Amino acid sequence: MSPYEKEHIHERDIFMTNLSDTPDRFGLVSRVFHWSMAVLFALQFLSAAAHWALPRANPLRETLWSYHANLGMTLFMLVLLRGAWGLLNLGKRPADAGLMGQAAKAGHIALYVFMVIVPAVRIIAAAGGARGLSYFGISVFPVREAAIAWTQAVAEWHGEMGWILAAVVLGHIVMATVWHRFIQRDDVLKRMM
Ligand code: HEM
Ligand code: HEM
Repeated sequence: MSPYEKEHIHERDIFMTNLSDTPDRFGLVSRVFHWSMAVLFALQFLSAAAHWALPRANPLRETLWSYHANLGMTLFMLVLLRGAWGLLNLGKRPADAGLMGQAAKAGHIALYVFMVIVPAVRIIAAAGGARGLSYFGISVFPVREAAIAWTQAVAEWHGEMGWILAAVVLGHIVMATVWHRFIQRDDVLKRMM
């Protein structure tokens, strides 16, 4: 390969970025979903932590809690879009062979399951609840005279499942950074960058 060609290919690698996933890198759409949702999940866990740890009527708790439902509904819509995009890209995304590859896949599936179920049960509870629900001021579910009992029951474990999701996310971050970046020294982290 001539130096010119080499230079040219290098430039192409830098400037051409795929929207779709490829076997050696997540595409732009997946990367934007991943990192914007990572930031939003951090804010969501912060709000839940304030709700759990701070006393009632604490101003910081009220501020952090005030966006919990709106952000949770936003995350729910984002995870559905991201999941659909992931399915469209299923055959061409980065994947690893072997037991560790299978474990990573199982871990990612667990993340998706919790990312869907945790907000979904609360949204179901709000749909059948007496208080109604609005999304950024727009009424989504009206106020009712009496709550529908089963819709409240499914949300009983919302908080606990939310904390399980937080633990799985923590494990995911440790695997991506400590395991892949510093122990294995492979390029798993790079393909999401
Ligand atoms: C992915 C999105 C969500 C995550 C990760 C999440 C996480 C959590 C966590 C960890 C708690 C427990 C806080 C504590 O221990 O005090 C909690 C509580 C709560 N969340 Fe969420 N949440 C999400 C979405 C939503 C949505 C969409 C709504 C409302 C429509 C909602 C409403 C509530 C309410 C009312 C509580 C307090 C009562 C309870 O623990 O069930 N959350 N959330
Ligand atoms: C500092 C924080 C984070 C780091 C360093 C990180 C790193 C990574 C890396 C390197 C991959 C690619 C793995 C592979 O190629 O096999 C990945 C994929 C993934 N990450 Fe994260 N991640 C972080 C936060 C999060 C959060 C907060 C969530 C969800 C709540 C999340 C959910 C996922 C999922 C579901 C995948 C599979 C690919 C996909 O469908 O998008 N990550 N992450």
